[in-house]
Amino acid sequence: MLPVALWRRSNTSCLCVCALLLARHSTSFTVPRAGARSQLQIASMVMTANPVASLIAKKSGGKDVTQGSHSYTGNMCAAARAIESRRPDALFTDPVADLVAGDARSMGDWIMVPRTRYGDDLIEELGHKGATQLVLLGAGMDTRAYRLKTLKNWTVFEVDLDETFAVKEPLLADQPIRCAKRVTISADFTTKSTGDLLQQMLDSGFDQSSPCVFLLEGLMMYLDASTSARVIHSVTALAAPGSVVFHDAISATYLRENIAVHGAPFIGGSDDYAEMWGVANFDTTVLDMSYSVRVDRANRGLIVDRSETATPARIRGRNVVLFVESRRK
Ligand SMILES: C[S@@+](CC[C@H](N)C(=O)[O-])C[C@H]1O[C@@H](n2cnc3c(N)ncnc32)[C@H](O)[C@@H]1O
Repeated sequence: MLPVALWRRSNTSCLCVCALLLARHSTSFTVPRAGARSQLQIASMVMTANPVASLIAKKSGGKDVTQGSHSYTGNMCAAARAIESRRPDALFTDPVADLVAGDARSMGDWIMVPRTRYGDDLIEELGHKGATQLVLLGAGMDTRAYRLKTLKNWTVFEVDLDETFAVKEPLLADQPIRCAKRVTISADFTTKSTGDLLQQMLDSGFDQSSPCVFLLEGLMMYLDASTSARVIHSVTALAAPGSVVFHDAISATYLRENIAVHGAPFIGGSDDYAEMWGVANFDTTVLDMSYSVRVDRANRGLIVDRSETATPARIRGRNVVLFVESRRK
């Protein structure tokens, strides 16, 4: 196992006028050797004594904004996309990733490259089938609305905490969108009922009769079981036939590792996401990411092996990072 990412947040940028970090967080990941089909492990992630109290006060667009740990993990994802974008063999290019990442360290290419490209590929696929709606739940600093030509005729709905948009919107104010329309929706999933979220989406112009791509990237591990169930329920109620959902997740056993990213603890994991999405009319595929999804740099794409799915029996008792894809029939 090779250590591939180690970050230690210790400085502030010019945007960051004050940092209230109650603890330092040192996070390291180990991944299998290139080509090895063994399970991926996230190790040595240090929990903070009080994760929610890890706040960063900064200026964005001339305003004072306070960003908590959960929201800040979105900046870390953007930092990873910025790094990938500089590679000659990049699997995606995000010209505004640097802008929204701020001073964050990378979330790690091992997860961000396959996850981002997986989502991009689903958008491409559904675009060919006529879809024109993308919903990003836990959108963070995602900038697909600014970078994907495929989205030319689409509406992109970004849902996240209010503080995320307080940071993000001023940074992107002068950037042209590539989609037809971009809608931001402030919502905290922990306090929203299924009905609230549904209504917010519909009030924002979401068309329940039209197929949609739902991406919940880097979200499920931060939600407890009941909040995840409510979010899943909302998505299943919104998704027209032909829609597709994608999210990453961790197995139930992985929760015992007490992982926290920049102070935001992982509190959600399951061995049976197929069952969680398993309402009538949804077809769910769960993959062990390190086993079934490979970055193919030579061809600047992913190789996805769907021949063996990550069934509950295969996952149980193991630390596994999952890719979950659920299609509305
Ligand atoms: C790891 S980031 C992923 C961001 C983005 N999907 C990406 O891949 O770049 C997780 C995101 O989920 C959001 N999030 C976490 N818990 C949330 C909650 N209870 N309500 C709304 N958003 C939440 C955070 O604010 C953050 O932007």
